[in-house]
Amino acid sequence: MTDTDIKKGLAGVVVDTTAISKVNPETNSLLYRGYPVQELAATQPFEAVAFLLWNGELPTEAQLAELRAEERRHRALPEKVRAAIELLPLEAHPMDEVRTAVSVIGAADTAGAASVLDAAGSPEENLARSVRLYAALPAIVAYGQRRRRGLGIVEPRDDLDYAANFLWMTFGEEADPVIVDAFNRSMILYAEHSFNASTFTARVVTSTLSDLYSAVVAAIGALKGPLHGGANEAVMHIFAEIGSAGNVVPWLDRALARKRKIMGFGHRVYKKGDSRVPTMQAALESLIEHYGRPEVGELYATLEREFVSRKGIYPNLDYPSGPAYDLIGFDTLTFTPLFIASRVTGWTAHIMEQAASNALIRPLSAYDGPEERHIPGYVASA
Ligand code: ACO
Repeated sequence: MTDTDIKKGLAGVVVDTTAISKVNPETNSLLYRGYPVQELAATQPFEAVAFLLWNGELPTEAQLAELRAEERRHRALPEKVRAAIELLPLEAHPMDEVRTAVSVIGAADTAGAASVLDAAGSPEENLARSVRLYAALPAIVAYGQRRRRGLGIVEPRDDLDYAANFLWMTFGEEADPVIVDAFNRSMILYAEHSFNASTFTARVVTSTLSDLYSAVVAAIGALKGPLHGGANEAVMHIFAEIGSAGNVVPWLDRALARKRKIMGFGHRVYKKGDSRVPTMQAALESLIEHYGRPEVGELYATLEREFVSRKGIYPNLDYPSGPAYDLIGFDTLTFTPLFIASRVTGWTAHIMEQAASNALIRPLSAYDGPEERHIPGYVASA
């Protein structure tokens, strides 16, 4: 193998087929099971998109009602999960908190499995597990934020749909429809993106015939990094550093002179712009108007204009979603856990797809360490 055979970061390597989503950087489009993500975000509740990712088709009214009923049954924070979260230091990163919570749910759910093979579960079991996990995550994320603010649990409300109930459990008050709509859109836009780093991680774990929860826990670890999901949190740190639109130019001069990466810009696949940005930017604009915060829009637009004109690198989804989540009232540290609550639908769809047509994922490496050598004095026994 020569160095030219090596695809560092697997860039450009096609490792398998998927029927779940199609990313086309040439046409700047993202399809979930054939539907443009913009159309889904404009017309569907997140629950319908979750169903679509898992089952391949949008739900009928009866199927949506059934999914919603099942989701409502598993909305409350499980007692064991609450207890485990409370064992963690308040200063623990919420991504570690959610990772731990999913691990607890997985251990409880697969307890008693006769073997690791048994724990991997049937396709039906894995679909049911996916629904339960997606249903439980809002309570985990919401309680994490409340706990850090010294607040108690807000019990879920059965009369609210997924997005409205998520906001209710986080803030303890019913959100305005403008906010619910923006939040619902963000959940849909974050749900799926083919073989991104965290989804690929989930597929690698699944390929060893490990269980769904182990795959999701591993995916959370991959999502935490600032080159991936952690970027939405990092965008807000940058906004805080810059302060206002008037500071953008000197700030950017300094940042680029120090070769800093500007979080929320750039993408491994999209080089001409992230297809999800216009929809999320429109949601951000509706929030800016709702909250009467034009200065956020000015900072957003100025940094984008200056950075794109200097580097030709475009914003990714994390750029508009960071300030949108901030306006809604989420703590900056809660942003990437929100990404988990959404992306768990895509991850679990991929876990089921991988399991249905499995091949152990095990690439090769080119060795560049020392030549073969030997322990002085060692004599192999006959
Ligand atoms: N700020 C400054 N320079 C950048 C940025 C950025 N955000 N993104 C890319 N570049 C530059 C690199 O420094 C590099 O320059 P060089 O060739 O002079 O060394 C060149 O563009 C290529 O960048 P790579 O990092 O090699 O490209 P890659 O395809 O591997 O990176 C990535 C994609 C990791 C997303 C990168 O653009 C980045 O680090 N962005 C910031 C983090 C971020 O926003 N991540 C979110 C991803 S989307 C999501 O998870 C929803």
